[in-house]
Amino acid sequence: MTPSNISETEMLVGNTLLSDNCSGCHMASDDGSFSRISHMRKTPEGWDMNIARMMIFHGLEIEPQDRRALVKFLSDTQGLAPAETAAHRDILERKHNTIEQDVDPDLAAMCARCHTYARVALQRRDKAEWQNLVHMHLGQWASIEYQMLSRERDWRADALGPVSEKLGQMYPLKTAVWADWQATEWKDMSGEWRIVGHYPGKGDMEGTMKVTSLGGDNYQTEFTLHFVGQTLVGKGKSIVHSGFEWRGTATFPDEKVRQIWAASTDGNSMTGSFFNKDHFEESMVITAWRKTSENGIMGIVPSAVKVGVETEVVISGVNLSGDVTIEGAKVTVTSATADRIVAQVKADGTTEGDVKLSVGKDVSIQTIYAQVDYLKVTPEYGISRVGGGGGPIPKVKAQFEAVGYSFGPDSVAGTDDDVRLGMLQVTWAVDNYSEASAEMQDAKYAGYITAQGTFIPEVAGPNPDRKYGTNNAGDLKVIATYTDGARILTAEAHLIATVQRWNNPPIM
Ligand code: HEC
Ligand code: HEC
Repeated sequence: MTPSNISETEMLVGNTLLSDNCSGCHMASDDGSFSRISHMRKTPEGWDMNIARMMIFHGLEIEPQDRRALVKFLSDTQGLAPAETAAHRDILERKHNTIEQDVDPDLAAMCARCHTYARVALQRRDKAEWQNLVHMHLGQWASIEYQMLSRERDWRADALGPVSEKLGQMYPLKTAVWADWQATEWKDMSGEWRIVGHYPGKGDMEGTMKVTSLGGDNYQTEFTLHFVGQTLVGKGKSIVHSGFEWRGTATFPDEKVRQIWAASTDGNSMTGSFFNKDHFEESMVITAWRKTSENGIMGIVPSAVKVGVETEVVISGVNLSGDVTIEGAKVTVTSATADRIVAQVKADGTTEGDVKLSVGKDVSIQTIYAQVDYLKVTPEYGISRVGGGGGPIPKVKAQFEAVGYSFGPDSVAGTDDDVRLGMLQVTWAVDNYSEASAEMQDAKYAGYITAQGTFIPEVAGPNPDRKYGTNNAGDLKVIATYTDGARILTAEAHLIATVQRWNNPPIM
């Protein structure tokens, strides 16, 4: 039976590729299934890593275009539904500095000490197949039972017993959400799209994307992206796997970028990360809306205006029309299209905090504040990595951003009524984090931070100028200083400037 979203041709080509490339080791059965392969579901990245592993471990040889076609076929026929990936998208979308939250501590100790927990939770299979995977681990990494966090338990017995049992219950092969998703019509993504995003350190972006179908869930894309004082035009190609997993590459004048996005189930919006091909840490989170079907406000920049200061505010959206009003502020529209409204806004001080902004019948929130009461630096804990220096692994930078807050009505910092005011222009510095890092002069050797809050690590390799000739790693404080007249506010974050990751698979 062919699931309705998948063409006869894709089924035929896919099964032939499995037969030609895999059936030598994976036995084909009369019912059309292949041993092992037919008993699990994975994300596109999961399938691609699986095929890469067949090549590295078992000597599979496969043409690049056949590998891509198999990833597409397997993701469409044995993929994950939107709801099944939701909790682990930050890892799938390669967001830098992600610290996985809410992972069962026992499963984390067993299965998330060499790789992320997302790598596990983004697969679906029954107990027997989880057990087969454990056997693969035991066979490949024989020391797995004796490493830290393993030897204080009976790792093998736990992994094959309660852990496989639990994973089979939490992440089984057959689920109603996947069956429902296969029965839902997967939408064509071509058309005009409106897109907004935020690039840490650089600011907010709004633009458009034109998507043209090339057939077989392949698309051509054309982007026009506006940042403050800069417009970037780019062109690329994308493919949609499993009916919603949008993967794209595009070329802009100064860089090549990649997109890992998820479409909504109605196919009218997308969200995900947009990042530099060689530096996934240079990444922006975007939201895209199809221009024909959605109405409303997508973004307001800046999101917060200061009482008494006339500020240019840009409202981005789709099909915008009608009067623009902001509670407690005078609004003068200077230009307006269905996509974008520019207005001069001056808050009169009668109200503060989050107030109603409306454009005709569409409403959103504008923040009004009297002063910045405190700052926070995000991420609170960042990682950079040495690189370059003639070695094969590029540097991994760390991007910081200072976000302003007001205390809110209770005048106390850190309570629920605090109001987020968005990114602030600050000056940046780094310093030694601890006595040990002061002793090693980490701040002098590990790298420097730019005016945009980008920490650029030093080159890899031993540094003969350093104590013990050690490398350029360091343990640092990142300090943001915000000046508003005579008031000076500061905030700090922690930065580990560490060594390279030699293996950077798609799902860490
Ligand atoms: C030369 C033999 C060989 C070929 C060819 C081969 N495999 Fe495998 N495959 C294995 C072996 C052995 C295992 C079990 C050990 C392991 O998981 O590495 C395996 C395991 C698997 C698994 C289970 C992995 C898991 O997550 O537990 C999948 C899925 C798979 N192969 C897919 C494929 C696909 C798809 C192809 C063809 C593109 C392929 N294999 C070609 C030998 C092969
Ligand atoms: C000793 C380190 C280590 C531990 C502990 C570990 N893994 Fe892995 N795992 C790996 C490595 C390394 C790979 C990647 C192999 C590759 O792709 O080259 C991997 C791959 C995987 C994959 C992808 C396999 C595929 O082909 O799609 C899954 C799923 C996985 N592990 C699940 C688990 C689970 C479940 C546990 C706990 C029972 C676990 N891992 C514990 C090291 C580990």
